[in-house]
Amino acid sequence: MKPIGPLMWEHRLIEKMLGAMMRHMDRAETDKNVNPVIIDTAVDFVRTYADRTHHGKEEEILFRDLAKKELTADLKRIMQELIDEHVWGRKTTARIVAAKEAYLSGDEGKLADIIHLARELGGFYPRHIEKEDKHFFYPCQEYFNKDEQEKMLAEFWEFDRKMVHEKYNKVFEYYAGL
Ligand SMILES: [Fe+2]
Ligand SMILES: [Fe+2]
Repeated sequence: MKPIGPLMWEHRLIEKMLGAMMRHMDRAETDKNVNPVIIDTAVDFVRTYADRTHHGKEEEILFRDLAKKELTADLKRIMQELIDEHVWGRKTTARIVAAKEAYLSGDEGKLADIIHLARELGGFYPRHIEKEDKHFFYPCQEYFNKDEQEKMLAEFWEFDRKMVHEKYNKVFEYYAGL
């Protein structure tokens, strides 16, 4: 298997999850309220899975190794766009959390902000994923020989293996501080 394989499977789950989040936002708009669990679950998914686990492998392994290659100007530009988009995703997620906190503190007007920001995030991911799937991953893998691809895939699995431990150490720190 090529290293872009697991990245593309992860894209499919991210698409499905954010599609479900978009449907929840439509319901929140109709109902004029939102169950905080709907937001917390989406935020945890985006932070732990889409950002830390998925973007983590892209940035800390794939992009790191690509940066050592003589990429075409086009691929270099796309890689920078992807990095910038990851940053935008993190900021937007933080803004959703801030709006949710204000909403829970009684500022009902923040519901519109939550819905707007969640829809921005839900609209952003499919575009970001399409850019990677259709314009970046395939030309990128041409820069790596078979050995390098196998090493990268092994590093991906090791990265994933650590994630559950990192996640639950964070859960513990949060829980102990409540
Ligand atoms: Fe990405
Ligand atoms: Fe991706």
